[in-house]
Amino acid sequence: MTILVVGATGMTGHPLVEQLLGRGHKVRVVVRSIDKLSSQVRAHPNLTIVEAAILDLSDAALLDLVNDCKAVVSCLGHVINFKGLFGNPRKLCTDATRRLCEAIESNGSLEPTKFILMNSVGVKNPASREKRTWVERVLLALLHATLPPHQDNETAAEMLHTNIGQNNSAIEWSSVRPDTLINGPVSSYELRTSPVTGIFCGRPTTRANVAHFMVALIENAQLWDEWKFKMPVIMNAAQTF
Ligand SMILES: NC(=O)c1ccc[n+]([C@@H]2O[C@H](COP(=O)([O-])OP(=O)(O)OC[C@H]3O[C@@H](n4cnc5c(N)ncnc54)[C@H](OP(=O)(O)O)[C@@H]3O)[C@@H](O)[C@H]2O)c1
Repeated sequence: MTILVVGATGMTGHPLVEQLLGRGHKVRVVVRSIDKLSSQVRAHPNLTIVEAAILDLSDAALLDLVNDCKAVVSCLGHVINFKGLFGNPRKLCTDATRRLCEAIESNGSLEPTKFILMNSVGVKNPASREKRTWVERVLLALLHATLPPHQDNETAAEMLHTNIGQNNSAIEWSSVRPDTLINGPVSSYELRTSPVTGIFCGRPTTRANVAHFMVALIENAQLWDEWKFKMPVIMNAAQTF
């Protein structure tokens, strides 16, 4: 069985692919430029590369992509420049999630496929009553009104809650919410159902730790049962930063 990673050239997607390959998984990636993968990853015998922008692929190509995949992970994110933030595709994460989920549903696999979406702690879990301070509410309203990528992360999460839900025979999902991302090796980290210290003063999260948690979700059935249909908040353990 294979794992599909989209956003594989990103700061989190790339360590995720390295960790998956390092643990012996077969990995399929869709990347806009093969040159953004390290030479080690590119040459790995267990890696299959499709060079394309995910949203440019036809429905038939997406069906091929998800075929035989036990998990699909989206580490997509908007490039942080004017075109990436305000240009098209404005709904990169939402549209990729929707189309990949439609392909998984059409694929008719016997076992549900795990869909893992990288999201952000700034996005509220639509299914819980997460409290926000008034300062956070004002800042989030501003982000919602002015930053298309924030809206994109919100609608991608809502899509999993409402369109896929918890009774879909083809897909089980989890939406992983880090706070500020930082670089560094895998270290101890904590998982929570909701932000505990406020969303703008939480602990940072090492990208390698986000990748490590995603690998664990794919490999560990008990961990998956704990976090499926949820939006786990991940943060580095107190002593690691
Ligand atoms: N940065 C933070 O502090 C932070 C904190 C919490 C959550 N997040 C969220 O985490 C996610 C990933 O973050 P990251 O920092 O790992 O992302 P990143 O390094 O910016 O990587 C983004 C990935 O998306 C791909 N991508 C961008 N635009 C695309 C397009 N139009 N078509 C196809 N692929 C496209 C990029 O491909 P190319 O390499 O080809 O550009 C890259 O593989 C984002 O959704 C972000 O909102 C970020």
